[in-house]
Amino acid sequence: MRKLIVNIGELATPFGRNAWGGADQKKRVERYRHAWLLLEDGKVLSLGTGDPGGIARVPGTEILDAGGLLVTPGLVDAHTHLIFCGYRQNELALKLQGVSYLEILARGGGILSTVSATRLAVSEELFEKARKDLDEMLKHGVTTVEIKSGYGLDRETELRQLRIIKRLQNELPQDLVATYLGAHALPPEYKDNREGYISLMCEEIIPEIAREGLAEFCDVFCESGVFTAEETRRILEAGKKYGLRPKIHADEIDAIGGSELSKEVGAVSCEHLIRCRESGIAAMKEAGTVACLLPATSFYLGADYAPARAMIEAGVPVAMATDYNPGSCPSLNLQFVMNLGCLKYKLTPEEALTAVTLNAAAAIGRADRLGSLEPGKQADLVLWDAPDLEYIFYRMGSNLVKTVMKNGEVTA
Ligand code: NIG
Ligand code: FE
Repeated sequence: MRKLIVNIGELATPFGRNAWGGADQKKRVERYRHAWLLLEDGKVLSLGTGDPGGIARVPGTEILDAGGLLVTPGLVDAHTHLIFCGYRQNELALKLQGVSYLEILARGGGILSTVSATRLAVSEELFEKARKDLDEMLKHGVTTVEIKSGYGLDRETELRQLRIIKRLQNELPQDLVATYLGAHALPPEYKDNREGYISLMCEEIIPEIAREGLAEFCDVFCESGVFTAEETRRILEAGKKYGLRPKIHADEIDAIGGSELSKEVGAVSCEHLIRCRESGIAAMKEAGTVACLLPATSFYLGADYAPARAMIEAGVPVAMATDYNPGSCPSLNLQFVMNLGCLKYKLTPEEALTAVTLNAAAAIGRADRLGSLEPGKQADLVLWDAPDLEYIFYRMGSNLVKTVMKNGEVTA
């Protein structure tokens, strides 16, 4: 089935099958005025500018009119925690009194309060909530989503969360990528037995996840009062032994060596990085790690913003994601993240586009097949109610998506 999209006002896309840092994060973006895009069997076949000529007359070609608007690749949200029950609106008052995120966690609230609610929830409830969220994300232009476990912490609930991701994958159009984040907090029943919980993850849960093929990545919240760098290394090495590729929640609140570990463990991505030091940037550069930054979390926590410009200038590819979760970022709107990327990180619109498409795809091991609109890649795209690329970074607070295509089909 061939589809020809004509009358595209601007077609903006990065090019490549890997993440780009340095000057390439901007330079590898092409912006075509008056463009057309030809799709076949869910993939991009070719693209060009001006009159598509004979291509439009090939029998069986369906013609779609973009109405002079902007087209970009489908957005990739490379970091979410969306399988949970237990929003925490009760913490708003504590936040307003100045109680910190880690203090709320230390008092048994925060992540642990969502863990209690998630353990009690029936699978159907978790599934339906996630399905609704993913549907809303699709309407916001997000065609690929990474989802972490980490609100079960016990064997049964962690596996349940990951199995729900599998089920969602069968029923929803988006590509979903699963990450095991058992090391999200120390479960209350192991409060006085860290070693016991770490062994349980490394020796029982990880092997079981691998046997069932339930996750591709393993992540650890490497943070003061949560897991140390040494524990992080141990858990990620155990994951690698079973084929789970490493990711690290690093330097979010304190720099305790998380990003520096990227080189040693060969992390695919480091996430957050608000407090990332030069040594962390150097380690990520050497390891080819993607820095996955989460500016809406900085916004919500009232924290600083990660040193995105320093990372790009050092040649580390920067991706951006929502971090959608019930504590530090109760928002699934990647368009807001795009605004913050320009306004707070000082990324150019081209750099920010790469951050939520190709570099985000690389952060979840998908840059070979999605994240850009070029021949051979999946036809995942967004038609924006916008005349050009600048507009979607400049406007804020409205959903600017007009139409979403996933694998060449209109899905929203
Ligand atoms: O990425 N930092 C750790 N995990 C999440 C927050 C989870 C929560 O508060 O429920 C994050 O910010
Ligand atoms: Fe997170």
